[in-house]
Amino acid sequence: MNYENILLEKKERILYLTINRESKLNALNKATLAELHFAITDAFRDEEVGGIIITGAGSKAFVAGADIAEFADLSEDEGRIFAQEGHHKVFDIIHGSEKPIIAAINGFALGGGLELAMACHIRIAAETAKLGLPEVTLGLIPGYGGTQRLTQLVGRGRALEMILTADMIGADTALQYGLVNQVVSAESLMSAATEKMQKILSRAPLALGAAIQAVNASLQDGVNGFEAEIDQFARCFDTEDFKEGVAAFLEKRKANFKGK
Ligand code: COA
Repeated sequence: MNYENILLEKKERILYLTINRESKLNALNKATLAELHFAITDAFRDEEVGGIIITGAGSKAFVAGADIAEFADLSEDEGRIFAQEGHHKVFDIIHGSEKPIIAAINGFALGGGLELAMACHIRIAAETAKLGLPEVTLGLIPGYGGTQRLTQLVGRGRALEMILTADMIGADTALQYGLVNQVVSAESLMSAATEKMQKILSRAPLALGAAIQAVNASLQDGVNGFEAEIDQFARCFDTEDFKEGVAAFLEKRKANFKGK
């Protein structure tokens, strides 16, 4: 695929994915969402990629939301399809990815931008970041998972306060709420995200995927998370990486995981 709205760079098993519509504060239009879908599913198949770091181009915005100009004229049916497609093709596949995905929040993360960050597994924010779900100012509500994922991350009271007031919060408040995992200076954002990802990628790859699936199961309707954990735990025993991890421990050396 020819990418026009995102930049991709692979370095030491990390895929750096930068949303690159700086003049529109990296707002997610249809073309960008399609490119995100393609790039992320491609990364799932790419054995050279262990994890993905998503950020926004420039210093002002991570992503300032879905592209307002594109959804201005939608009908109810079109609005439903708009949300469903976004959920299925982008936000759900990020959430369910067996490869870890970190959001490096370099500025405004609003509406669909915050929803994108919340679908990721870990969020690291620059101290200059501003986060919010301002959809009610447009006569809308969040439609890419915001009502659900914000509630899961910060609890019902804070989620409703943020959604109903449409107020943005700063990075320190987001940290206090548990909405982001870490706050760093703007200059050290990418190195902090890289460091976190490198540490994760030094662990057994199949165990990472199993852990993500087991944790995600706790949020899935109709799924017994404890049973899911037992299944994922059991699957790990059948991997070469488990044998290598245990052998390395007993031999007092660093494990050399192969993802098998
Ligand atoms: N969709 C489409 N375009 C957007 C956008 C979005 N979500 N957010 C910003 N832009 C565009 C602006 O229209 C502007 O384009 P222009 O230069 O062609 O007019 C450009 O990005 C710069 O934004 P601007 O509003 O001039 O910057 P600012 O510094 O004055 O304000 C924000 C920054 C983030 C506060 C403001 O852009 C904003 O409120 N954006 C919308 C946030 C939102 O409601 N998101 C949820 C959507 S569901």
